[in-house]
Amino acid sequence: MYEQISHSLLNEILTDLKPEIHEEDLRHFYTRLGANFYSIYSLFTILYGKRDDFKEQMQKLVETLAQQYIQRPAHLKLSDIVRENNHNWFLSQEWVGIAQYPDGYSQNLSELQQRMHYFLELGVNMVHLMPMMVCPQGASDGGYAVSDFRQINQRFGSLEDLQELAAEFHKHNVLLTLDVVVNHTSDEHEWAKKAREGSSKYQDYYYIFDNREVPDMFEATMPEVFPETASGNFTWDEEMGKWVMTVFNNYQWDLNYSNPAVFTEMLDIILYWANQGADILRLDAVAFLWKKIGSICQNEREAHLLLQLMKDCCQVTAPGVLFIAEAIVAPVEIIKYFGEDAINAKECEIAYNASLMALLWDAVATKNAKLLTQGIKSLPDKLERATWLNYVRCHDDIGLGYDDKDIRAVDYEPRAHRQFLIDYYTGNYGDSSSRGLPFGHNNKTGDTRISGSLASLVGLEAALESGEQSEIDDAVKTIVLMHGIIMSFGGIPLLYYGDEIGTLNDTSYLEDPAKANDSRWAHRPRIDWEKAELRNSPGTVEHTLFSSLKKMIAVRKEISSFADFNNRELLDVGNPHLFVFARFEYNQPTNKVLVVANFDSEPQYLDLEDIGRKAYFRGSAIRDLYSGEKPAMFKDFLIIPPYRFYWLTDQ
Ligand code: GLC
Repeated sequence: MYEQISHSLLNEILTDLKPEIHEEDLRHFYTRLGANFYSIYSLFTILYGKRDDFKEQMQKLVETLAQQYIQRPAHLKLSDIVRENNHNWFLSQEWVGIAQYPDGYSQNLSELQQRMHYFLELGVNMVHLMPMMVCPQGASDGGYAVSDFRQINQRFGSLEDLQELAAEFHKHNVLLTLDVVVNHTSDEHEWAKKAREGSSKYQDYYYIFDNREVPDMFEATMPEVFPETASGNFTWDEEMGKWVMTVFNNYQWDLNYSNPAVFTEMLDIILYWANQGADILRLDAVAFLWKKIGSICQNEREAHLLLQLMKDCCQVTAPGVLFIAEAIVAPVEIIKYFGEDAINAKECEIAYNASLMALLWDAVATKNAKLLTQGIKSLPDKLERATWLNYVRCHDDIGLGYDDKDIRAVDYEPRAHRQFLIDYYTGNYGDSSSRGLPFGHNNKTGDTRISGSLASLVGLEAALESGEQSEIDDAVKTIVLMHGIIMSFGGIPLLYYGDEIGTLNDTSYLEDPAKANDSRWAHRPRIDWEKAELRNSPGTVEHTLFSSLKKMIAVRKEISSFADFNNRELLDVGNPHLFVFARFEYNQPTNKVLVVANFDSEPQYLDLEDIGRKAYFRGSAIRDLYSGEKPAMFKDFLIIPPYRFYWLTDQ
């Protein structure tokens, strides 16, 4: 029945399209619309079907898709077709990413272009540029409070600069990833301004209430994201004389996706950035898209339906463009952002692997991989044609979002264990040399998250101060070890700018009142290019780190079993200090690479007989693909030095 209705509605919509649309060559567009319309219509009906203006809204949506298709530059349309024909292209091991603030890595977009050689030298071929859209002066949550979704902040340059950069990236086969902040706008956005002036149309773009009645109902179950700086989830707007939902900071107004006009506006913005040359769009804070009284207002079913709808629509207009889900939620929830009950991804093709990230930090602090192994064991297989973004650090804090069941399964008590990690990383535990900073402490729940640069967190800052060479070496090895996992785990490794030269915490944010109360700024550095030059001076920390990562990237790209096809086998080896998994070739499962990582400060042993040696190695000439060396063996015991990893094969 649905199918029939959708078919006749599609015909009506197409007949009613504006005459200028009919004049264009829309053959590919019509084919894709036909293929996706049933799904688009069904999702739109579930979300907005009860509205009187349903048909009008549906018409508007299709018109938006057509208009953006017409705007899409010819070379991007061509790349759409190439990618449609090779639809698993992004699962290859050839991709390695880096995330960077354009004004931290450089001054602006044109300087960034001049400095491309630096990340090309490293082997990076996907760059995530942190948000650059117009946002208020002063506090703007690092660009995540957008006041104009279609313009670039002047201090970064112009749209033309971005297009030029995108063209240069494509010449070098570098993928461009841009942020689209879909969950909220700045309170200085035009829609917010109109709402404030009393426009009911724009008040309906947000969650706005006359009194505390409904806000109080929401508050009963909603947690707080920034409890220290933005307590509660609603802000009183003096001028409007009303309450506005502000889940993040009080100047970030949550968009009301129960209004289809909001959906279509934001979709238009997504497609607009796709048309500027982005290969990948990072959709910010997607877990928060749907709000429901009585729930935590995260991971709601409708949030998933909205993402499916966004994806289906993008398939029509810009099918070569991928989505990254930024959903930093519980492990079992994250995986749903690929799409549930499907085979191929039907929401976002890529998702931040916040579970692996947090588990790695547990392994570093405890010097064992018990929770890491347990946590990965509990992680369901992801869908096909979907991949992880594996990272060690990013611009945000580290949240200790482990599953309590997993913590208990390895004999820790969840509360005490989390407290240990906070103490450890803020340098308040035993001989911990970590220099992390607390972030987002919540007095009500006792939760705290952790800020700090990778190098400062693993003790490099303290070691450099003490001058103790063995401590410096251990910190450097830990950085390399953590990258050894994200490069081989399966998915796209995402480096964080500055980590490749061991950038330490930057405390200058404390002098800026707009940043001082947000410790995440400690790890959003300005690259010190003199320090970066040291990558060419053997014997320096910068040289060791940069050259190790460079080599690791080059080797990763050659190992076809590191492509991501759910081709990983986790091994519980009985030695708690070791994290061990095998990667095998999708088409040739006997072709295996055994990844072995030792998180301890002492050498550890792995009895290859115990793990069924023959399943991994047929011959005796075992070697480590990363270093090219033969690992130390004693009979059938593999010896793994402290803080080391191996990528082993006998091929
Ligand atoms: C995402 C961003 C974070 C920001 C938040 C609100 O989680 O990564 O930096 O504060 O969204 O936009």
